[in-house]
Amino acid sequence: MKTPIELISQRITDAIQKVTGQNIPAIVTAATDPRFGDYQSNSALSLAKQLKTNPRQLAEKIIANLQIEDVCQTPEIAGAGFINLRLKPEFIKNYLTEIKNDTENFGIEKSETSKTVVVDFSGPNIAKQMHVGHLRSTIIGDCICRMLSQAGWNVIPQNHIGDWGTQFGMLIAYFKLEWPYVDEDYSQVEINDLEQFYKSAKQRFDNDENFVAVAHQQVRRLHQSDPITMEQWKNIVDESRKHYQPIYETLGINLTVKDERGESFYRDKLADVVNDLKKVELAVESEGAICVFPEGFKTKEGNPMPFIIQKTDGAFLYATTDLAALRFRINELKANEIIYVTDARQKQHFEMLFKVAEMAGWVKDTKLVHVTFGSVLGEDGKPLKTRSGENIKLKELLDEAVKRAKQVVEQKNPELADSEKDSIARAVGIGAVKYADYSNNRTSDYIFSFDKMLAMDGNTAPYMQYAYARVKSIGRKGQEKGIDTAKELKGLKEIFINEPAEFELAKQLIRYSEAFSTAIADFKPNFLTAYLYDLAGKFSAFYNACPVLDAEPKTRASRLLLCNLTAQIIRHGLENLLGIKIIDRM
Ligand code: ARG
Repeated sequence: MKTPIELISQRITDAIQKVTGQNIPAIVTAATDPRFGDYQSNSALSLAKQLKTNPRQLAEKIIANLQIEDVCQTPEIAGAGFINLRLKPEFIKNYLTEIKNDTENFGIEKSETSKTVVVDFSGPNIAKQMHVGHLRSTIIGDCICRMLSQAGWNVIPQNHIGDWGTQFGMLIAYFKLEWPYVDEDYSQVEINDLEQFYKSAKQRFDNDENFVAVAHQQVRRLHQSDPITMEQWKNIVDESRKHYQPIYETLGINLTVKDERGESFYRDKLADVVNDLKKVELAVESEGAICVFPEGFKTKEGNPMPFIIQKTDGAFLYATTDLAALRFRINELKANEIIYVTDARQKQHFEMLFKVAEMAGWVKDTKLVHVTFGSVLGEDGKPLKTRSGENIKLKELLDEAVKRAKQVVEQKNPELADSEKDSIARAVGIGAVKYADYSNNRTSDYIFSFDKMLAMDGNTAPYMQYAYARVKSIGRKGQEKGIDTAKELKGLKEIFINEPAEFELAKQLIRYSEAFSTAIADFKPNFLTAYLYDLAGKFSAFYNACPVLDAEPKTRASRLLLCNLTAQIIRHGLENLLGIKIIDRM
């Protein structure tokens, strides 16, 4: 099903073709001011410049050739040559009927060709706690996967965990010291506090020469795949997983161990990467290291910038692993597109990575995308840290959100059973953290504020969850009044809408697919939250202006349809696309 904007664009494009003889896609946007209609096109303005004619006259010609009576009222020209369009009530009603029957997609079209897309996100580092910096990659990546699946793509999530590298020699050495019995009995192994474990190991490494020697020995054993050393390495990774997997579950993130291909997975592909790049004369020795100098990258001093793939001591790097992973994803996973979700600080790494892979001829027609995001800031505007200046652990942050959400529930609904309060608090608390993140423009930094994200008014999760619960309550109120709302809805033959507030809500409902298109085009969930917030607002205005259960039976069924679609689209947006739980009562 085409979105209203696509439909209108197509018609204007056809008219432009008739007028100019050229196929120039029309530019159509939602009108910024409802007084001017629902949609607006400034095609005549931009085209007039190219064709060196008068824009108003061109607009008139376009309108004269425009066949749009089934969608819009007679178009109007405004200002220098804007074309204003207003949807016809008939079109709105027909479109509503179609999305009512499109119970899984509500107008969102599936792509015709199912392409394979790899989404690389989250990527926590083993033996370290996930901190708030991992929050954004994890939840934005998950939302991207959800949107792409909704659009009909074959999505392969990849969790590129940091589970390999020389620091593992240090960790294993420390592990052996702390748990000397480990060779006989693995069941006793438990790393309670990964963060502490890592810190202590690092401290020892920095201060104890003997320990450094043992660590290096462990690195060698790891590289030789010595079975006992590998077993110890595996234990550390498994312990770490016990830490991050429950966080994914709490967050409602669809990542499991089967989506993991960490750095270790590529370890025996790294030498080939270097050799292959040497063969095509891209990799060269420079000051003892092996580097590629991708085109277009210069250091501050104006020299070619190296992408280092092997250090003087022979060790491979993050970059080498990423080259191996990229090649694997193209050749083995058959990716048509690879999307990497990391913070903006890795921008240059990925630009160089993509360039090197391209120069090596590995990319073919796979599209490579780096989706970046800004930082999470504290209320003081500085990166969010604890008082003592440490990274805030993600788990603690989420626990706190649930605790605070419980207070909100206690205030709002003290008479609920405790278990129900708890489950609402989890949905609201976790939903609030995710929604606050999504509702900010992904590329900007944002200030993390529990008070703002848990507020019942404003563009927040609790507001949206409450809006949903409110619509759902209509069914329950109907029951009390002896009205079977489900049956009335089923019996609906023809949609009757007349009131302005009904039309405003109906127009918002039919624009869900438009919001989805803009969100997925640039992987920006804030277009979805903004849409849902507007939807809740238009529902509120409708609900205040138009009685539902007390309306005439004929009108009532139509109004129930508006209510029902509002609830379903809020649910679909929150649950399916954003992975945020809805609740039936709050
Ligand atoms: N482990 C990395 C980090 O914490 C993220 C990995 C991103 N993915 C990649 N293919 N490099 O920054």
